[in-house]
Order: sequence, then structure tokens, then C-alpha cells
Amino acid sequence: MGASLEEEIKKRRTFAIISHPDAGKTTLTEKFLLYGGAINTAGSVKGKANSKYAVSDWMEIEKERGISVTSSVLQFNYDGYCINILDTPGHQDFSEDTYRTLMAADSAVMVIDASKGVEAQTIKLFKVCVMRHIPIFTFINKMDLEARDSFELLDEIENVLGIRTCPINWPIGAGKRFKGVYDRDTKKVSMFQAVSVGGAKSAAETDYDVTDPALKDAGGDELYAQLMDEIELLDGASDEFDQELVDKGELSPVFFGSALTTFGVQTFLEHFLKMTQSPLPRMSDAGLIDPITEPFSGFVFKIQANMNKAHHDRIAFMRISSGKFDATKEVYHVQSGRKLRLSQPQQIMAQDRKVIDEAYAGDVIGVFDPGIFSIGDTLCTPGKKFQYEGIPTFAPEHFCRLVHLDSMKRKQFIKGVTQIAQEGAIQMFQDYTLGMSEIIVGVVGVLQFDVLKYRLENEYGCDIRLEPLPYNYIRWVKDPSTDLNKLSRISDCKKVKDMKDNPLLLFANEWSIRLMLEHNEGLELEEFRKN
Ligand code: G4P
Repeated sequence: MGASLEEEIKKRRTFAIISHPDAGKTTLTEKFLLYGGAINTAGSVKGKANSKYAVSDWMEIEKERGISVTSSVLQFNYDGYCINILDTPGHQDFSEDTYRTLMAADSAVMVIDASKGVEAQTIKLFKVCVMRHIPIFTFINKMDLEARDSFELLDEIENVLGIRTCPINWPIGAGKRFKGVYDRDTKKVSMFQAVSVGGAKSAAETDYDVTDPALKDAGGDELYAQLMDEIELLDGASDEFDQELVDKGELSPVFFGSALTTFGVQTFLEHFLKMTQSPLPRMSDAGLIDPITEPFSGFVFKIQANMNKAHHDRIAFMRISSGKFDATKEVYHVQSGRKLRLSQPQQIMAQDRKVIDEAYAGDVIGVFDPGIFSIGDTLCTPGKKFQYEGIPTFAPEHFCRLVHLDSMKRKQFIKGVTQIAQEGAIQMFQDYTLGMSEIIVGVVGVLQFDVLKYRLENEYGCDIRLEPLPYNYIRWVKDPSTDLNKLSRISDCKKVKDMKDNPLLLFANEWSIRLMLEHNEGLELEEFRKN
């Protein structure tokens, strides 16, 4: 007999890896997959640009630049767990989708480069995790290179990110002298040795009890003495492990290692799997929805247009949040009030997509969108009628004025921008006074401007020009009835409206935001907009 519904859900762990580009997210993911037996050779995740996956993608831009606009979900089994890693696009393809993906994760792994510490993109992604109160695990990577002092790194995480830390293990040496890690719970030391497995670098480990004299011989007197000092310091100064605080996202368990040499990766994976939780209840307008006792339900967190250009199709990415999805059964789309069968549900993997018959709470599947889904929509079992909490609108950071070059095709142009905005690839605004005669688009990552231009030209036949605007910050005005023309200090910002006529302000820097607030008592500005 197969596993029960409860067993299937309980063994699932769905998380995202967040990091600044180059910290080692791809390398770490790849090592996880190697442990899970999902891939056989290193480099399989990296080679996205040359793989089949890229070929099926819709953008020439993607091929030209060798990046992947489509993010994916990797599923593999390890040690009785079924693991879903949600890929958060990071380099040039950083976009709102990167944030939205975090709305579908139950926890996050934050990869930090040991020589660099906390970097800009990590901070942005971290804020979204904090907003959701999800557990955050820290992997301090690249310990095989010159690293900053470990205590200093912990201080930086605590001070810059404002989360408490609890080292679960501790590095022995760094750089060429990175010899192993000390497990603070079992008081055992794993000493690493580089080996090659199937062409991939891997680690052979020898475990010692911290009191074992052989450890001194293996590590050398100096490193041994340093370790003893540091253990004493740690035990005196660092936070105790507290699962409850971890669950609330208030304490981050910290691990040290090197993804490239795999030193410390397996022990991280094993501890992490035990410390994270299986899919949790999720809030809806009918209260918390339990993943196990409730029948199938899920929500759309991302829409990918034209994965196959010939068919003009759209794929909606759905996180299943309760029960079991059965492809033969109808589901209810709450926002449209329609019952429908989801055709060709698929698991979108890095290199492949395969059609699936069933999936469980915790899984993410791609479903064909007949043109009715929007980001944040709820799908559930017919007979149920609740809606999951919406996905917030995240603040774009780059803005352009969108100029349409052919006045004959105005209708087509408006239709195109509006549709692309509805899919969530860009945000569309209008000038506060001029309305739709001045359209402004905002994006989180600049690649989305290229995507917009390409799609308007290729799918809607519209020639456009994008004129960059000198603003990087957007704020929603909390009280929508505020008359922006009556505010003072308005000269160094731009007044716009979203498509629902909500007033917003664009600023060049944080300094002008502060000035605006100082000069307009009672004005409240918001960085996210809860939908
Ligand atoms: P990302 O996805 O977070 O952007 O980072 P990625 O894994 O692509 O790693 C960025 C670079 O850092 C890669 O080198 C990778 O090999 C290297 N790297 C990752 N983890 C470690 C580590 O633990 N130690 C060391 N020494 N290097 C690490 P690259 O030269 O840019 O790419 P490649 O030519 O090696 O593929």
C-alpha cells in the first residue's frame, strides 16, 4: 500500500533559497540534488542556457543572454523527505516573481558569502521572509576561501537583518585551512577531506568526539586551541537553539560550509530538514486552512506567459496548500466562480517538465491558464468557497515613461500593456493629472523592460519607446482619498495613480521620502500593498 495522504504531506519540505548573486545558491542547490540522486553530475543545474529548458522558453532575450526568465521548482527525495526547492530568479532576471515565489515557500535558506557578509539582494529578499514570519536558515558559504571572522559575520546578520542567530555548527579554520565543522549539539567534529565522486567534488568525513586526542592530531595544535576558545565563547554568548523561535522566524540557525567542496553541505541538509516543518495551515477569509484535513486547495503565485509562443499559452504556477490534487477531477476557481478541469498539470523542473496525475499540499505545479487566472487566485474543491490571502504588490524600483510610436494602434497598445500588467510582469501607472495619456511602468528588475518591449512588438505589433525616469522608490499613499495636489514638497517627486485610481508617489531617494513626511503631517506612506 502507498503512503497515506497525511504521510505524503508530512514528508514534504517546500523552501526557497535566497542570496545575493554569486553567493553560491546554484552550487548549493546542485549539491542538494546530488545527495538526493536527482542529478548525476555537477553542472546540470548551471547549464540552463544550453539545456532543453531554455529552448522551450519564449524569449530571444533569454537565449541571447543565457539566463532563465522562467523560474522553476526542483523536486527530489532525500532520506524519506520529499523536497521542493523553489527557484528564486536572482541575477539579471531578478523581478517581482522572485518575491512572489517566497509567498509559496514554507521556509527560506539564506546563503551568505563568508568573505562578503550580508549583501543588498539578500536584504530585500529577507524583508519579504520577515513579512511572512517564515523560518530562515543561514548557510555561510565559501568557507574554503578567505573568510571574514565568524563572530563578526554573526554580528552583521543580527545587526543588519535584525534576526537573532544560533550557530548549529562552527567552522574549524577557514580558507585553505578550513578543515571541518564542530556540531554544537552532539559535540562531535567532522573533519573533511576532498574527494572526487563521479567527476564532482565531494567530501569524505571523519567524525571525532571533541575530547578525542586524535582530533588534535588531525587538526593541528593551533586550530584545536582556537576551536576550544571559540566553543567557550559561543557557549557563553550565543542564543540557545529554540525551535519555537525558529518556527516564528525570530531565530536563524546558522551553518558553515563550502558548497563547492561540499564541506558541511550534507550535515546542513540533514539538520535543516529536521528543523523545518511540513506544510502549515494557511490563512484564508474562512480562517486557517489545514493542509491535511481539508480537501484540495491552492493558490496561484506566478503566471508565465507564452512558454510556447506558437500557442500563446500561459502557465499559472500554483502552490497546493491543502489535500491532494487529482488531475482527473474538476476544481473550483473562486474568483471567476467557474468549475474547470486543469489541463496538462505539470511539474516544471529545471531541465524538464512532466505531466503529472496527482500532487500534494506543499507541491507546486504549473497548470494551463485558460486566461482567467490572476496572481493570488484561489482554486479549491467544488463546494468550498474560501479565498486565500492575496499576494502583496511589491514596490518596483525602476520606472519608465512608455511612449507609443504609432497613434493608429492605440487600442492594441493599451490592451497589450494592460494584459502584461495583469500577468504581473510589470506594474502600470498613469500620471496623476494627465491620466492614461501618460503611462508609466514600474519593474523590480530592469530585464522586465526588455521583456515588455519585446512582447509589445512581437505579440501586439506595437512600436514603443521607454524613457527612463529618475525615480527608484514608490510609496502607496495609505489614505486613498488624499489629494496629492494639496501636499507640499511635491517638486522632487512624481505623482501617479495605479489602474484602480489609488494615489502613489515616486521618489528619487529615501531622503526625499523623509522630507515629504516631515512637511506633510498625518501623511502615511506604504512600501507594500496588501491585495
Ligand atoms: P549563485 O547561484 O548564488 O549566483 O552562485 P553560484 O552557485 O553560481 O556560484 C558563484 C560562483 O562561486 C561560482 O564560480 C561557483 O563555483 C563559486 N562557488 C560557489 N560556492 C563556492 C564555495 O563554497 N567555494 C568556492 N571557492 N567557490 C564557490 P564561477 O567561477 O562564477 O562559476 P563556475 O565557473 O565555477 O561555474
